[in-house]
Amino acid sequence: QALRRVVIAVDGPAAAGKGTLAAALAASLGLPYLDTGLLYRAVARRMLDAGLDPADDATEAAAGLTADDLLRRDLRTPEVDRGASRVAAQPGVRAALLAFQRQFGHANGAVLDGRDIGTVIFPDAPVKLFVTASAWRRAERRWLQSGGAPDLDAGQRRQAIARIEAELAARDAADATRATAPLRPAADAILIDTDDLDADAVLARALALVRERLQAS
Ligand code: DC
Repeated sequence: QALRRVVIAVDGPAAAGKGTLAAALAASLGLPYLDTGLLYRAVARRMLDAGLDPADDATEAAAGLTADDLLRRDLRTPEVDRGASRVAAQPGVRAALLAFQRQFGHANGAVLDGRDIGTVIFPDAPVKLFVTASAWRRAERRWLQSGGAPDLDAGQRRQAIARIEAELAARDAADATRATAPLRPAADAILIDTDDLDADAVLARALALVRERLQAS
């Protein structure tokens, strides 16, 4: 059933399954969906395209973001992964992206996924989910998503996944320890550990939680 103007916050670390869950929830509930990581990725892309270092002040790049910037296909390269984490640590960038996210949610309700949706962007959201998984499982999923190189033997496979695990850990540490809007569950967020659940099971669990929370509120 389509829900009216409800905002559902889905936060968590990289590759925990937030995006998959948030998109499926939105489709099931008839709500718009916003992947807020794309905003930070697009800001990083603009900096890189302008020959600038994403660690430098990216406020202007964030303020000038357009819908076209979000539709580019080159927003998931390793360079953009690192750059997005750098621009996301800047208070000016986060401030510049705040109003857009709030308007998106307020217009018709929405499912938004990110790091600070439940803590900063929509602290009053009636449903907040925090999606986690072990670092190894997250790295393994990223590796499979990227094609997974089927010709590797077990040892090489472990090495490839361990490299991704180290990158994810570095990015999560940066996201969780920054001063502005660090990655952390809101006090009233419900944790969903996706280690032993497939996407369908995660969706079923989230839908049950959403119904429970909305009935209680
Ligand atoms: O979810 P993602 O990997 O696409 O996010 C890209 C980067 O942006 C990541 O370093 C975390 C950051 N981010 C954030 O700080 N706040 C959000 N709401 C979404 C993403």
